[in-house]
Amino acid sequence: MFSRRHFLAGSATLGAVASLGGCARPDGRIRIGFLVKQPEAQWFQDEWRFASEAARDKGFELLRIGAEDGDRVLSAIDTLYARYAQGFVICTPDPNLGTAIRLCAEANRLKVLAVDDRLIGPDGEPIVSVPYLGISAAAIGELAGQLAIDEARRRGWSLGEVGVLRIAFDSLDTGRERTAGGVRSAIAGGVAPTHVYSAPQRTTDTEGGFTAADPVLTQRHAIRRWIILGMNDESVVGGVRAAEGLGLDAGSVVGIGIGGSGVAVAEFARTEPTGFHASVLLSPRRHGYDTAAMMYDWIAHDVPPPPVTLTTGTPMDRGNYRRLLAAEAA
Ligand code: GLA
Repeated sequence: MFSRRHFLAGSATLGAVASLGGCARPDGRIRIGFLVKQPEAQWFQDEWRFASEAARDKGFELLRIGAEDGDRVLSAIDTLYARYAQGFVICTPDPNLGTAIRLCAEANRLKVLAVDDRLIGPDGEPIVSVPYLGISAAAIGELAGQLAIDEARRRGWSLGEVGVLRIAFDSLDTGRERTAGGVRSAIAGGVAPTHVYSAPQRTTDTEGGFTAADPVLTQRHAIRRWIILGMNDESVVGGVRAAEGLGLDAGSVVGIGIGGSGVAVAEFARTEPTGFHASVLLSPRRHGYDTAAMMYDWIAHDVPPPPVTLTTGTPMDRGNYRRLLAAEAA
């Protein structure tokens, strides 16, 4: 976690190097950093892969950096400066680092664009001066909730008896908006508001989803049919695994993820269906390729990115995932 001590220490270093700002780059090449909060997660691997394609197409150098906490973000910005980068794209490990990231970028004369998770200022509001590309979180969450309702109806479930497990990561705006949207659709579709249970997760990976879901499902064992929603595929897969551990099999669970990346595909590829019924496919190409290309155009041609770009999602399940992935890769 980011601390004030580190920010001050980082700023002092940055102050010293910033005075060198503007010194000539040795080879005139454009270098762009791409910092991600969870370098091991498939989503971010995919973003990096597509950003590398942009680098190849446009002829710039891409520096991929995993930055899992505030210290690493600050040292990565130092590294970018030292390597004559001119800008970076970042999915921050903590939106509250927003002001530190903006100030460090400015001090090092680096352009910055936020992807996936928006930077938040001291007033708790998004930092609008930093361009942002992210998903249309509420609409995509509503779509996930609607897909769950559609499947529950197809199964002939009595919606008044169904529980909704909302695996919650509310400290992240995009996370809160996604799952709130899902719950809205579920209630509009006939689920009782009193049957919506939030399970706060500490981390947004599968383990975090599992650890959050398990005690809530255990406590509500009287409910035998569940819709499971979360901010990404990993969280929902964690919830589905917790349900399985409690004897709630594929016929008792409708889990709808968001992302459509590796963990979702692994579920669809199993011979027997699991409770992970569907996902909303996002576009890592748009989040990786487009953000890196936007940064390039900003640096090379002085064309700034739009202040906000929101991307859409597509329903994905066992029936269509191969076709959708082939289209995304093309
Ligand atoms: C957040 C989540 C990721 C992914 C992206 C998509 O960063 O943590 O898993 O869903 O949003 O923008």
